[in-house]
Amino acid sequence: MQITALVCKKITQRFIEYGVVRTIIDNLSISFQKGERSAVTGISGAGKSTLLYLLAGLDQPVTGSVFISCADEKILSSADRYRQQKIGIVLQSAYLIHQLTVKENIVSRGLIAGMSIYDATQNTTELLKAVGLAGNADEYPSTLSGGQQQRVALARALITQPDFLLADEPTSALDQKTAAQVMELIFYHQKMYGMGLIIATHDQQIIESMDTIFELKNGTVHQRLLQKGSVGYGQTIDAQENS
Ligand SMILES: Nc1ncnc2c1ncn2[C@@H]1O[C@H](COP(=O)(O)OP(=O)(O)O)[C@@H](O)[C@H]1O
Ligand SMILES: [Mg+2]
Repeated sequence: MQITALVCKKITQRFIEYGVVRTIIDNLSISFQKGERSAVTGISGAGKSTLLYLLAGLDQPVTGSVFISCADEKILSSADRYRQQKIGIVLQSAYLIHQLTVKENIVSRGLIAGMSIYDATQNTTELLKAVGLAGNADEYPSTLSGGQQQRVALARALITQPDFLLADEPTSALDQKTAAQVMELIFYHQKMYGMGLIIATHDQQIIESMDTIFELKNGTVHQRLLQKGSVGYGQTIDAQENS
């Protein structure tokens, strides 16, 4: 079973702030395909995180629906078990479980999604190496910096080899060098497993690395396709493949 697309159909999201109803997402229809790299941009407060929460199934729109489209089934409206196995999520805060070690935080995510303990442990070891935290496996999250915790959250999101990765400003807590490492890992997985990538970000270098840019403004999106060969992350991989 593979998720081939995440589809928003006429979704609207409103919040009440200081007694005033504000429409953050306004009758928006948009779809994200597996294998594509999409950035969601827009000024602070534009609704980037709101859209990611809706796509992840962590919140429900007031009207409209978010669908998961699967390869060999009709479009599903209620598909929590697929979300759990097939969508990896990295939010703006890491939300690690502080009573568990770094390794346990990642392994447990795999077990919840139905992986064997052998596979979950093996993937965790590899991912911790990839995010540069192999030496921190048995530490507790509180001993790590914000950027390190964010990298653990990324490893946790990737452990199930998801069809989609949703990431909310994944480099905002990282220095430039670590940000580059994290993005290389994300793009490596994207290419290796044909993952769909949806990243909310202001980071110009990430934006330049994507296939499609969705700019959120006044509750709706303006779409822009990027030319390849620009200055973003992952270009070295493109260059090697094209040569
Ligand atoms: N759960 C919520 N309750 C009330 N207001 C919210 C909630 N989530 C987001 N908002 C408001 O919606 C607007 C968009 O927020 P957000 O999606 O976080 O923007 P962005 O991620 O683009 O900075 C902001 O004004 C924010 O205060
Ligand atoms: Mg946000």
